[in-house]
Amino acid sequence: MRGDDTGARICVTNAKGGTGKTTVAINVAGALNERGRDVLFVDLDPQGNATEGLGLVEAYDAAPPTLFDALTDHTRRDVVNDLIVEHDEMDVLPASIDLLQAEHELTIADLIARIKSDPNLSGGLEALESLAINVESAGITEGHALDALDVVLSEIDHDYDYIIVDSPPFYGKLTDTGIFATRNVLVPALTEATSERAIELLIDQIAALESQVGIEVNTVGVVANRIENTSEDRTMLQWLEEVFADFPVWEVRKRVALQRAFSAGSSIFGYEERVDMEEVFLDVATELDRQFGYAEVTA
Ligand SMILES: Nc1ncnc2c1ncn2[C@@H]1O[C@H](COP(=O)(O)OP(=O)(O)OP(=O)(O)O)[C@@H](O)[C@H]1O
Ligand SMILES: [Mg+2]
Repeated sequence: MRGDDTGARICVTNAKGGTGKTTVAINVAGALNERGRDVLFVDLDPQGNATEGLGLVEAYDAAPPTLFDALTDHTRRDVVNDLIVEHDEMDVLPASIDLLQAEHELTIADLIARIKSDPNLSGGLEALESLAINVESAGITEGHALDALDVVLSEIDHDYDYIIVDSPPFYGKLTDTGIFATRNVLVPALTEATSERAIELLIDQIAALESQVGIEVNTVGVVANRIENTSEDRTMLQWLEEVFADFPVWEVRKRVALQRAFSAGSSIFGYEERVDMEEVFLDVATELDRQFGYAEVTA
């Protein structure tokens, strides 16, 4: 299922806030690194939690060009190679504060794409362009503009085994570009009642995206996160296992060590304190290697 030589790409997503997207993304990336995989971590969230958590706050505050320009200015896609920063466990394509403008910009790009692809909608192009910061009609070649991240990732000179994308906590163009670029989703979900609606909406959103742009999105699995021992946790786990009966559902328990590792700028694998959830994240990494056809590490 690797599909091509660009490596496996996975978007960690759930529009509900605080479900553990960033925690899961960093620790899955850390576990893949433990298995000897070469990983690029992409922070697509304008909040920049992962960027800051991985100790790269300077990159978040950096002057342009940033990931925002790579995504929205078709003449500067290749700046992505200068934006990638090294971390002990992985390479990182950091978020920047400018990404706060990305929804606006990608919305204009998408409107331009629609106008260009519909002969009945003449005019308006220039007006739309004038509202944009970077986006130009000349850079929009598809009937939609959700390929921004896909094109940027294709410009990266280095071949990674995995590209892990941490997505923002809302439905919108940024998340759609993340899913479009990866075609694979890993879904973190809290084991509490409010997660039900979040998961149902996510499934609807992915189905809508699939039919809008004609792609198939694969679910690599679900991470039930921050599990405790209440009856609500058990009920929700059961619900997740039913809804995702055909997919792996991993169980990550509530552990302060996960927060401490994050505050120390690493995954739990790069952190001094040992925590029993390492095994779960290694299971996720092993299963991803299986799904994406990477051979067993024999070191
Ligand atoms: N298994 C866990 N045990 C304990 N704390 C956790 C666990 N998973 C996540 N957390 C904590 O919960 C908070 C939210 O997690 P995280 O930032 O990963 O979620 P998120 O989905 O990325 O949030 P956002 O929607 O804002 O991007 C953080 O403080 C994180 O450290
Ligand atoms: Mg996050």
